[in-house]
Formats: sequence, structure tokens, C-alpha cells
Amino acid sequence: MNILGIETSCDETAASVVKDGKHILSSVVASQADLFADYGGVIPEVASRKHLELLVPVIEKALKESKLKLEDIDAVAYTKEPGLTPALLVGISHAKALALARNIPAIPINHLEAHVFANSLMPVNDGVEEIVFPHICLLVSGGHTIVILVQNQTKYKILGSTIDDAAGEAFDKVARLLELPYPGGPIIDKLSLDGDPTAYQFPRPLSDKDNYDFSFSGLKTAVMYEVKKSKPKQISKSNELNKQLMENWKSDIAASFQEAVVDILVEKTMKVAIANSVELVTMAGGVAANSRLREKMIRMGNEIGIDVRYPEINMCMDNAAMIAGLAYFQNENR
Ligand code: KG4
Ligand code: ZN
Repeated sequence: MNILGIETSCDETAASVVKDGKHILSSVVASQADLFADYGGVIPEVASRKHLELLVPVIEKALKESKLKLEDIDAVAYTKEPGLTPALLVGISHAKALALARNIPAIPINHLEAHVFANSLMPVNDGVEEIVFPHICLLVSGGHTIVILVQNQTKYKILGSTIDDAAGEAFDKVARLLELPYPGGPIIDKLSLDGDPTAYQFPRPLSDKDNYDFSFSGLKTAVMYEVKKSKPKQISKSNELNKQLMENWKSDIAASFQEAVVDILVEKTMKVAIANSVELVTMAGGVAANSRLREKMIRMGNEIGIDVRYPEINMCMDNAAMIAGLAYFQNENR
């Protein structure tokens, strides 16, 4: 069964063809992030107009790369929710029109469930084993931070979530405090490689609590105060020296902030995994691309005997292969 997936929930226009819920025949993503670099976030109206412009060529490219024709497509899957309403509507109406014209099913997909499903889209070869159920998934994106008990490809139970900001939102807001462009997560990740994660001691809110919830807004506020306090002044006539000082300071703030987020995420996720006696933890969503999070989750997993898996970076970010893939299993269970 060949499913065409369409994703337009935020600022990525994406289309993909997936065969039998497993084999990615094509996955095309046109990012609009550059449009919003100076704004600190996505403007829904602007994103929806861009989706309108990009979606047809992106679908055409996905079909061409899959080497299939529209007649070979058995169903169209689309992101129904959650997301920015004007942006979602572009994908929803295109998908429904295509399905109607071809007389094939249009399958609505929840964006968050699709992120979790991305873990099942990894190539199963070279000794890589199939994902086992049940397992715990940490879903960390720009809008959500949730720990989920994944019972199978289509059955989930939310065990904990953020009580304020999402982890990705915290990355984006701290990047703004450091005058870095949107989206801030990948830039903070990169800057942190040159920074000292122990340079500043930022709080790890709720880490001493026995519940499975997260909180990031206090951490963001702590970074804001530290930025006001320790931002380097122009101390030298040499522009080069000032620039270097500024870069070192940004890297240290970024690395210390990132370390706090990662510690919170790793500790809580593993606590949930132990309490639920699972052997596997997976990660999903844009923040799951974070190199330090991947490293520390694996390290902690090794220490306590829990396997850790995560999708390739392009499958952590918004894409339509996760939409088309999950649609196959949802269709099977209908
Ligand atoms: O899942 P996603 O692509 O879109 C949503 O559904 O929200 O996640 C986007 C979020 C943004 O907040 C971005 O800053 C963050 O993921 N992100 C990262 C990294 N790459 C993307 N955060 C930390 N480290 C990264 N390497
Ligand atoms: Zn997403």
C-alpha cells in the first residue's frame, strides 16, 4: 500500500511516499525557517501563505522521487492536529481534494503520534532490531514535552508533560536572549560544543518531585537574569577581542542552559522507564536531535540497563514520512 503523506502544521512544507508503513520511497521537506529567523518564532498567516506556494511543487517532487504516479497512490494522509490552524488548513484541504479527485481514502493523523511513530521508521538492517513494545517515549518538540507509555504503534498513554514551556520553546527563547536567530535549538546545540556546561549553575525545576511533570519557564527566567548580569561589556578597543569574549560567554551560557534541560529530561524519562519496568526508551520531536541529549540518555541507559533509540535527525524534525507511515497502521486497525 503506497501512502502519500502531507505535513503543514508549522513552518515545514513536507510530502512523502511510504510503502506499507515502513519503506520510505521519498521524503521532501521545504523549510520556511529562514523567513522567521529574525522574528523569534513562526507567524501563522505568513507560514500558511508559504505552504500554499510550496505544497504543490513539494508533492510533485515527492511523487517524482518515489518513481510513482498519482494513480499508484492508495491513500492520502495528512496532519490534522495539533499545529497552527491557518497552516494546517492548507495541508488538510489539499489532501482532501486529492483524495476526492482520485476516490481514495484521506487519513487524518495526529502530529504528535506521528513523531513517536518515527522511531519505527528506522531501517531494520545491520543488526538493528525492531522497536519493542511497550516502551517509554520522550516527545520533545517546539510545542510539547511529554513522556508517553507506547503500548503499540497506535496505542499510547501520556504519563507526564510540561506544566509551562515546552523544551524546544525554552531553547528558542534562550536563543533569543542571546540574540541568536530562530530556531534556536540547533544553534545552541552547536555553540555548546565550545562552551563549559558547568560555567553557570542553572536550576533543574521539579527534578526533586516524585511526579513525572516538567517545567522550563523558571530555568528560562534564571538564564534571563544571568544574561543581564554577566553579558560582557566592551572592555577593549580591539573589536576582535570583544567579539571573542562575547562568543565565549554565549557558548558558556548556551552549554550551561542546555545541560540543565538535558539533565531534567534524562532524569525524569529514566525515572518513568524504571517505574514502568520497560527495557527501551525512545525519543521523538525536534529536540530529540540534540547531541547532548542523545549522548546523556544513552549513557544513563547503559548505566541502568535500558536500551535507548532515536530517529535519524531528519526524522526527528517535522516531515511527512512519519505521517504517511503511521497512516498505514491506523488504516490497518480501523
Ligand atoms: O518537532 P519540531 O521540528 O516541530 C514541532 O513540532 O514543534 O521541533 C522544533 C523544535 C524547535 O523548538 C527547535 O529549536 C528544536 O526543535 N530543535 C532543537 C534541535 N533541533 C531542533 N533543540 C535542541 N537541539 C537541537 N539540535
Ligand atoms: Zn513536530
